[in-house]
Amino acid sequence: MAIVALAGSPSANSRSTALLRHVLAAFPDTTPRTEIVLRDLPAAALVRADVDDAAIRQAREQVAAARLVVIATPIYKASYSGLLKTFLDLLPQDALRGKAVLALGTGGSAAHLLALDYALKPVLSALGARHILDTVYAVDAQFTPHPLHGHVAHDEVVQRVARALAEGPLPLRAASPLALAA
Ligand SMILES: Cc1cc2nc3c(=O)[nH]c(=O)nc-3n(C[C@H](O)[C@H](O)[C@H](O)COP(=O)(O)O)c2cc1C
Repeated sequence: MAIVALAGSPSANSRSTALLRHVLAAFPDTTPRTEIVLRDLPAAALVRADVDDAAIRQAREQVAAARLVVIATPIYKASYSGLLKTFLDLLPQDALRGKAVLALGTGGSAAHLLALDYALKPVLSALGARHILDTVYAVDAQFTPHPLHGHVAHDEVVQRVARALAEGPLPLRAASPLALAA
């Protein structure tokens, strides 16, 4: 059962992407996984909704093949990133039906704690998702800069991700879930 991870931050050194990688690291090495960094997709194809572009087509196929879709986004202007929206808009209408979806968000403050729930969840639902795991929101202060991984999430965030994944369809590592090598 495959996992696809969508990194929705426009930033190169991204906290939400670091959190996404924590999640990917929690699964056994044998679990097929693909990380799609949306900022690396061709910008013109994204803004022109060019679903015939080769990279966009491949990304759509990778989403279609996944059983678990993990989506990470920064909170911008009280919502999820525009970059993420440009990609979600290119997915077929029922793209998330039959899949579990875990949404992760990072924001500068707790003021937009519910942004994933009020802004992103309706979109996931419109795309057919019926198994949406508990969302995980973390603030910037819950990350520590790391020379290798960019940022490392604090334990309380990692534990919340582990609890959300416990309701998911795929087995986690038996020991030290979500641990990243220091
Ligand atoms: C254009 C822009 C808009 C932002 N708007 C918000 C916001 O409305 N609420 C919030 O809590 N943080 C906001 N932030 C802060 C980011 O959400 C926060 O730093 C986040 O962790 C960045 O994630 P990233 O490192 O994955 O890009 C904003 C940052 C930028 C650059």
